[in-house]
Amino acid sequence: MARKFFVGGNFKMNPSTREQKKVLVNTLNSASVDQDVEVVIAPPALYVIPVKETLRGDFKVAAQNCYEKPSGAFTGEISPAQLVDAGIPYVILGHSERRTLFHETSEQVAAKTCAAISAGLSVILCVGETLQEREAEKTKEVVESQLKPVVAALSEADWSKVVIAYEPVWAIGTGKVATSAQAQEAHADIRAYLSTAVSASVAENTRIIYGGSVNAGNCKELGSQKDVDGFLVGGASLKPEFVEIINAKK
Ligand code: G3H
Repeated sequence: MARKFFVGGNFKMNPSTREQKKVLVNTLNSASVDQDVEVVIAPPALYVIPVKETLRGDFKVAAQNCYEKPSGAFTGEISPAQLVDAGIPYVILGHSERRTLFHETSEQVAAKTCAAISAGLSVILCVGETLQEREAEKTKEVVESQLKPVVAALSEADWSKVVIAYEPVWAIGTGKVATSAQAQEAHADIRAYLSTAVSASVAENTRIIYGGSVNAGNCKELGSQKDVDGFLVGGASLKPEFVEIINAKK
């Protein structure tokens, strides 16, 4: 089975107004896009439902986070069940900003991934190393340590609901994109790890997308790599060039 190219737009805590959000949605709605690409837009929690209600039907919506409990006294959190009830199919989990700024551990990310999939969501699972870890040649080790608790928590069948986003922390929002060779090497290592830790078929079928300073100028080269199955785009997803990124394989 060929892996369908996947492009996610992670708006993070942007835009600042509902009017700007409307403009972003209108731009996407009028864009001419490659129909062989799965496009998923992740607005801030406040905008998830209005974006779903106004976004074109061939694009999906994701939350940027969720909690692992179904309901209860967890102020500020959103449950997987609530997202499913709202018709939201995807959630981003383990983004480096959640890991770093909000101290989420790989074990918590695994618990959330398991809860999200059990509730019926698909997960964009983010992993990636810091600059210090890359310079210490620990990229493979770090990424595997982030994936290991997820592997322990999921069944083989669950992996059909997972897209892995390899996002080197040093490339996020810095304008310092990984070279296509660096991205390909990290993605191939993740696929090899999945093959050993889960199964050959999960390794073959799981989409591994790249995130970190992707833009209209570098997306074609990155997207041409054998093991790069798409992108998770931050800053450029708020700009008209996002359409060119969606169309990177055209
Ligand atoms: O989730 C997206 C990544 O953090 C990449 O962000 O494209 O602004 O570097 P960026």
